[in-house]
Amino acid sequence: MEGVVVIKLGGSVITDKKKPYSARTEVLDSISSSIAEWSGRLIVVHGGGSFGHPTAMKYKLSSTKYKRSGEGIFETREAMQQLSSMVSHYLGQHGVKTYTLPAVSLLTMEGDPRRDLAFLIKNILNSGLTPLTYGDVAVFRKGFRIVSGDYLSYVLSSAIRAERVIFTIDKQGILRNLDDPTSAIEELEFKQINQFVHASEKDATGGFKAKVSYARMIAENGIDVFFVNGFDKDALIRSLHGERGAGTLVKGKK
Ligand code: IPE
Repeated sequence: MEGVVVIKLGGSVITDKKKPYSARTEVLDSISSSIAEWSGRLIVVHGGGSFGHPTAMKYKLSSTKYKRSGEGIFETREAMQQLSSMVSHYLGQHGVKTYTLPAVSLLTMEGDPRRDLAFLIKNILNSGLTPLTYGDVAVFRKGFRIVSGDYLSYVLSSAIRAERVIFTIDKQGILRNLDDPTSAIEELEFKQINQFVHASEKDATGGFKAKVSYARMIAENGIDVFFVNGFDKDALIRSLHGERGAGTLVKGKK
């Protein structure tokens, strides 16, 4: 679908990862205003940060193992739904009207994209609404498992052949040197990306390493991927327009 951008709001951007259940409302407000300024079509995905991860880890829920028992599922989803309603609220305040989709509405019981996913998303976009989804605990044939917002960004961008995907993170981009926050790489080929994995604390969905592998899969599908500092309004707006120099651009395979 032409001109659609998928933006993932990282949990480390929209929440304070050091404090359980603390949303950065001023950041949500600022990102929402940037999104509203941009006139193109958008799909918004967000992560869990200090809402999803501590709860998921407490109950040993992860993106790699299935769980049969329902223990902790309510608490984890409740936290994610609270965060999601805040994201939706701030977007709405700026005139961006969302249509929230839990992960289970996008995937089959095997965890693959549902067959008519592109059609579903197109119908929402064509009505002027903005699809919104988030890292969630989904139910599969084998049990419950977390699906990260990064995975959902991959699934959605592939299904609708997005123009580009933007991962907002808490750094300037992919860093050449982890000790130097100003060493963001401007442009990378998808094959090079695995060499540059940021250190990240352990979380329920594989941290930065997993993000990089989804970014690679998206770029391998021919879609440009930006890693942008979510706190930098100017960089965010530039990446929405697809401008180079806003964080790191992982070029889609041509
Ligand atoms: C995590 O989603 C969702 C849950 C823990 C339930 P993500 O993996 O996309 O979250 P962030 O962006 O890393 O915080």
